[in-house]
Amino acid sequence: MLYFLTTERLGFRCWTAEDEPLAIGLWCDPQVTALIGGPWSVDAARARLAEEIDQQAKQGLQYWAVFLLANGEHAGCAGLRVYQANEKIYEMGIHLRPAFWSRGFAAEAACALIDYGFGRVGAEALFAGHHPRNEGSRQLVGKLGFSYQRDQLYLPTGLMHPTYLLKRTDALAGARETDAKSPGREFSGPTQTVTLWYEQEKLKP
Ligand SMILES: CC(C)(COP(=O)(O)OP(=O)(O)OC[C@H]1O[C@@H](n2cnc3c(N)ncnc32)[C@H](O)[C@@H]1OP(=O)(O)O)[C@@H](O)C(=O)NCCC(=O)NCCS
Repeated sequence: MLYFLTTERLGFRCWTAEDEPLAIGLWCDPQVTALIGGPWSVDAARARLAEEIDQQAKQGLQYWAVFLLANGEHAGCAGLRVYQANEKIYEMGIHLRPAFWSRGFAAEAACALIDYGFGRVGAEALFAGHHPRNEGSRQLVGKLGFSYQRDQLYLPTGLMHPTYLLKRTDALAGARETDAKSPGREFSGPTQTVTLWYEQEKLKP
């Protein structure tokens, strides 16, 4: 399998039209979509797959399909999409199959997305929002250094969802801080890469 991005345990690749069974397996699981406007029908999962493929063609971004490097099992999706193009703000999203919850995979994937977003994509900020009862997402964005902005209506659930931003400057400051006290580091790898990328940028003429 061709991954364009990997972490210690995960590989990211683009969705293709042949992935319909994987898309249905993920998005037709009522546990996965319980807090993101589910349950979704098979047609809704197919439409979402088509939308992701279209996003990749138009923006070069997707909530990419994610797999375990160890055995190729499909874990879910994680990625970025354009949120406010003029301000270079991108939304980060992660949907994992229940068998992969609470094993640190979302945190691992998110670190790679933060790296990719600020390094490769040139984002100024990353946006995230979640269902008010989604404790996993709340914990995750807090640990990643996102700052709460406001509650905002999310049409798929019809509820006000807390929303957050991680600004590039804050991500870089956080990266330096965590690198400086590496014994207390929560997530390995990616934050250091962000710092390295930033240092290289500064050296450019
Ligand atoms: C939300 C989701 C991405 C979290 O993924 P995960 O792999 O279980 O998260 P992690 O294991 O990386 O955990 C990150 C932190 O959140 C905490 N956490 C995860 N799930 C939690 C829950 N249900 N309740 C409280 N805390 C939780 C973890 O304990 C961890 O904190 P810690 O480092 O202090 O232990 C996953 O549950 C999911 O895909 N849900 C369905 C789709 C969805 O709702 N996506 C979010 C859209 S906003």
